[in-house]
Amino acid sequence: MRKKIVAGNWKMNKTLQEGVALATELKDILAAEKPNCEVIIGTPFIHLATLSELLKDSVIAVSAENCANKASGAYTGEVSAAMVKSTGAEYVILGHSERREYYHETPEILKEKVDLALENGLKVIFCIGESEAERDNNQQEAVCKAELAGSVFHLTPEQWKNIVIAYEPIWAIGTGKTATAEQAEEIHAYIRKCVAEVYGAEMADETSILYGGSCKASNAPELFSKPDIDGGLIGGASLKAPDFKGIIDAWK
Ligand code: 13P
Repeated sequence: MRKKIVAGNWKMNKTLQEGVALATELKDILAAEKPNCEVIIGTPFIHLATLSELLKDSVIAVSAENCANKASGAYTGEVSAAMVKSTGAEYVILGHSERREYYHETPEILKEKVDLALENGLKVIFCIGESEAERDNNQQEAVCKAELAGSVFHLTPEQWKNIVIAYEPIWAIGTGKTATAEQAEEIHAYIRKCVAEVYGAEMADETSILYGGSCKASNAPELFSKPDIDGGLIGGASLKAPDFKGIIDAWK
C-alpha cells in the first residue's frame, strides 16, 4: 500500500525560535496521539539541523524547501543537497510553483536539483500544477504531464521509489480557493496514469500523490477520501499546530 502523507510547507515563515516552538508543540501532540499517516514538515534551511535533532525520535520527518542545482563550489548563498542531507533532513520539496515563478526555475534546472537530491540520499516531494489561465483553457493535464516529463520521468524505477508527487493548482495556493475533491481526484487519477505509462501500473500504484492548495481541516477529509489523493502538502494551515493536526486527523 502506498504511503498516506501530510506534509507541511512553512515557506518563508518562522524564525528559528518560532520554528522550534511549533515543532515542539507538534511533536508533543503527535506523541500523545499517534498519527495514521506519515507526517513531514518542510522548513527553511536554517531550521533543518535543529529540527532534525529535536524530532529524531518522533514520528515527524523533516524536509527542506529547496536545494541547489550544483553539487558544490562558488555559488554564494546556495545550499547543496549534500548539505541538506548532512542536517538529518530526509526530504526536499522541489518544483514548487513559487520557485518556478519567482526564481525562474525551469524544468532543466529542476531536473538537476532532483538528480542531486536523489544522489545524496534525499527523498523528493516534486510539485506540479497549472495556473488559473491554464485551467480555464483546460490545459491542466498537458501542463502536469510536461512538468513530470521535464524533470522526473528520466529517473530509473529504483530512483522513482523516492519520489512523492504533489499536485498544487497555482490558483488554489494561498487563495482560499480549493480545488473540489472531484476536480482534484480527476487530475490525480490522470497523473497516476502518466506515471503508469512510464513506470508501470504497479509502481504507479505505489506512488503517493498529494494535493496542495488551501487544504485545511474542514476540506481535508473529503479530499483524502478520494482514491487517488494520498494526502496533502499544506502551506498556511501548517503554521499552527492545531490546524495542522486537524488535517492529520483527516486520516483517522
Ligand atoms: P496553502 O495551503 O497556503 O494554500 O499553500 C499550499 C502550498 O503551496 C503548499 O506547498
